[in-house]
Amino acid sequence: SLPVPNVQALAADVTPTLLRRYLRPQPSTGGVFPTATDVEAGLPVIDLGRLLDPGLAGQEEAAKLRLACEDWGFFQVVNHGIAEETMEEMKRDLVGFFQLPLAEKTKLAQHKDYIEGYGQAFVFSEEQTLDWSDMYYLNTQPPSYRDLRFWPSSPSSFRLSMERYSTETQRVATHLLRVMARNLGVQDAEKLTRIAATQSMRMNYYPPCPPEERDRLLGVSPHSDAVGLTLLLQVSPVPGLQINKGGVWIPVDPIPGALVANVGDVIEVLTNGRYKSIEHRVVVNPRQERVSIAAFHNATFGPSSMYSPLEEIVGGGKPLYRTITVQDYVKLILSIKLQDKNMLDAMK
Ligand code: SIN
Ligand code: FE2
Repeated sequence: SLPVPNVQALAADVTPTLLRRYLRPQPSTGGVFPTATDVEAGLPVIDLGRLLDPGLAGQEEAAKLRLACEDWGFFQVVNHGIAEETMEEMKRDLVGFFQLPLAEKTKLAQHKDYIEGYGQAFVFSEEQTLDWSDMYYLNTQPPSYRDLRFWPSSPSSFRLSMERYSTETQRVATHLLRVMARNLGVQDAEKLTRIAATQSMRMNYYPPCPPEERDRLLGVSPHSDAVGLTLLLQVSPVPGLQINKGGVWIPVDPIPGALVANVGDVIEVLTNGRYKSIEHRVVVNPRQERVSIAAFHNATFGPSSMYSPLEEIVGGGKPLYRTITVQDYVKLILSIKLQDKNMLDAMK
């Protein structure tokens, strides 16, 4: 990947020349906007406490989860059982990290050709329009995946806060995947819960943007998540995330304390397209900074193991996606980015 300016520093001292690499040829926030009814109908909200109820309430909530996965691919999770303290400490320490002087943060800068550390998302050409955001990325689970060289010593409680938050989000992911397996009629729930075996955190910082250019900037370009299951915490009460539902960009406004869950490409493949990995993007804001943290869950498939639609889901039908080794899948992700193509189309 190519070196890219730090956006937080750039935003503090922006010039038209520097800004040019971030401006999209077309207004980035153009397109079809939702009607009031779309927004009110809103994203499904799943109550995890209810979902885990062994009785009728659990069955009702599971039916809601099934519709959320089939119709939306995105939903919010409330009553998830993560202690408020754990959430608040994570938020405080992440905001504290992004507030550190640039020289402190760049001590944890990404190394060449790997995403972990402080920097930006994958940039592959000088011509690529850049996203209006900085990123801090850590592998968090299992503990043996951590590279502590990238973990900060300041704020001093960051490591402990992350350890707790990471353990809790992994637990929430496992619960959701177990119910998804039941909803899909997959007998061996492990075939889905193993998606929670590994976890990485993508922490995002979006500085306020120059007001006159807000329509030509994006915090994150449209993409779907190449992983299994994502759990996102909108740390700031600032909107920005939008999902593409049938060509309409629907905002996912932050619900205090909620996590936003979304089905990633790997679940779409395993479920043979029954559950959809939905395209989403982040729009910018001229007044307020925005911080978010995405927990990506994925299985520890060995390099020679396979991604393929699960047999019991395909049934007598036709597999929509081909079978591919994990090694080839990773190569495909990179080549797709280079060609700006859609991952799931390439899997067909
Ligand atoms: C992402 O999807 O990569 C970022 C989501 C967000 O910041 O809300
Ligand atoms: Fe994403």
